[in-house]
Amino acid sequence: MSAQRGTWITLEGGDGSGKTTQADLLESWLTDAGHVVLRTREPGGSDVGRLIRDIVLHHRGDIAPRAEALLYAADRAHHVATVVRPALERGEVVLQDRYLDSSVAYQGAGRVLDATEIRDLSLWAAEGALPDLTVLLDLDPETARARLDSADKPFDRLEAEKGEFHRRVREAFLALAAAEPDRFLVIDAAGDHDVIATGIRRRVADLLAGDR
Ligand code: TYD
Repeated sequence: MSAQRGTWITLEGGDGSGKTTQADLLESWLTDAGHVVLRTREPGGSDVGRLIRDIVLHHRGDIAPRAEALLYAADRAHHVATVVRPALERGEVVLQDRYLDSSVAYQGAGRVLDATEIRDLSLWAAEGALPDLTVLLDLDPETARARLDSADKPFDRLEAEKGEFHRRVREAFLALAAAEPDRFLVIDAAGDHDVIATGIRRRVADLLAGDR
């Protein structure tokens, strides 16, 4: 992202991969080190986005695939313009749960839309903005499902999709990471929380040192 002073980190992975836990740990570590951290997410990281999140995750019944892709892209456009970009310009660390890789992996997994088209739509929406680092928490869908089942909260529309869908999501994330190895850090999310957190910190420390 041009003309920025801050650092932009996104977390990606399937539902139940532990993104929230790792974002919490990374946020505390960064804050303790004196960084100003803006914690945010997609969908729903802005005022308009919260309305869109309610539609994409809780609407009863089908949403046409192109409409769904456009709703995520609209959320993204407003979020990047009004939340992410201003924070980066203020020099903050933006720690964000999900970004355009989620659109490619999830909307692409429905097999109706083409991955390149989805990515291009998001890039148009966000004026080409890409994170400095994307942490992919990789986990097999069966383990993730067991975690979600024990979490005792209602499923949203995507969590309720079948196992085959989640296997395609996982493969898509891994393919995205392989295509952009410099941007991605792939972590085995089956391991211990602290071990995972240490791996993420090491990479983030390098990134922050390089920025100075
Ligand atoms: P998330 O907020 O991580 O779920 P939770 O609140 O349950 O932790 O993500 C919500 C869902 O949105 C998730 O199943 C993936 C989906 N999603 C897409 O399908 N496309 C997208 O572009 C994004 C950002 C999310």
